[in-house]
Amino acid sequence: MKQAQVIKPGILQFAEIPDPTSRVLEDHEILLQIHTIGICGGDIHVMHGQHPFVTYPVIQGHEYGASVLAVGKHVTKVKPGDKATARPQLVCGNCPPCRKGRYNVCQNLRVQGFQAPGAAQKHFVVPEDRIIRVDNSLSYDDIAMIEPCAVGAHASSKTDLEGKNVVVTGAGTIGNLVAQFVQARGAKRVLITDVSDFRLRKAQECGIKYIANTAQERFEDAIKRVFGDELFQVGFEVSGAQPCITDLVANIEKGCDIVLVGVFSKPPFVDLAVVDEHEITIKGSMMYKHEDFELAGRLLSKGEINVKPLVTQRFSFDDFAEAYQLIDNNREICMKIIINL
Ligand SMILES: NC(=O)c1ccc[n+]([C@@H]2O[C@H](COP(=O)([O-])OP(=O)(O)OC[C@H]3O[C@@H](n4cnc5c(N)ncnc54)[C@H](O)[C@@H]3O)[C@@H](O)[C@H]2O)c1
Ligand SMILES: [Zn+2]
Ligand SMILES: [Zn+2]
Repeated sequence: MKQAQVIKPGILQFAEIPDPTSRVLEDHEILLQIHTIGICGGDIHVMHGQHPFVTYPVIQGHEYGASVLAVGKHVTKVKPGDKATARPQLVCGNCPPCRKGRYNVCQNLRVQGFQAPGAAQKHFVVPEDRIIRVDNSLSYDDIAMIEPCAVGAHASSKTDLEGKNVVVTGAGTIGNLVAQFVQARGAKRVLITDVSDFRLRKAQECGIKYIANTAQERFEDAIKRVFGDELFQVGFEVSGAQPCITDLVANIEKGCDIVLVGVFSKPPFVDLAVVDEHEITIKGSMMYKHEDFELAGRLLSKGEINVKPLVTQRFSFDDFAEAYQLIDNNREICMKIIINL
């Protein structure tokens, strides 16, 4: 069986590995057939040698759409023929956060596709506790999007949104999904910002009503245009760009929450005097928990989250490496690239 491996930065190659169909499954194991794999920013960092926490070779594939081929004798959550995906987090279960149920910030966290082998191969075995059974009406593209959707589901669970005005900075795949979950959870008005018209158009195609290109319109003017005197009560930073966190801190209503999702490549400047004086709460949001995956699957099947406009390109498994060439040359117009197996 062929497995795609990033053997060192810039080089993706196929290796021949044993096919797990030839071994007996443990009682709680599930054999999946992988149909689609999504590529995200984290994968691109691995490919460019810019991921601080991996050692090569890296076997990618942490967001995927699969079907169940076979199950161990005690598996009850899925049966052969079901569509599924799985949460890629390997957690220790023993550290203080794990013992408090906060395994998404496990002190010994390893993520498949980064610090542990991912699913970039035809057949892949996962344990039942991380499986997500999904509605069979979902496409394998949609199922591969459950992982990034779960990031949005988790971030949007970090603060109360009912009736609030919300700004999401950054309209990449993750910002877009955060904004969609924020809308689904009952926010009043949601404004998404970016410096790319392409990405803002995608946001509108996904049903996010208010957009602002902050390369062309001042942030202060955009929030005035959208919220009038009401200002905004929640901010989500999903760009990793300094101007965004600066704008959110400077303009959010006093006493309100900012949730950080974007990863900053260098430590950002945050005016803590304003955070203090305005009693702003800044919260981190790291990946997701199992219930976020399940909510993502449910809202996708109900059509409350629209991921179709986000799939911008697709490649066959054999052409996996070409996907990265395209990304290198066309970063702005590449949102979710799907690899079809
Ligand atoms: N916390 C988590 O669990 C988690 C999970 C996945 C991704 N992330 C992070 O979330 C961020 C977004 O991920 P993505 O895949 O959507 O990345 P992306 O690079 O596709 O999106 C970032 C967007 O920010 C926009 N941007 C850049 N400068 C801006 C500015 N000054 N104002 C407004 N927008 C600006 C870019 O044009 C781009 O559309 C990344 O930093 C990623 O590492 C965090
Ligand atoms: Zn991802
Ligand atoms: Zn742990």
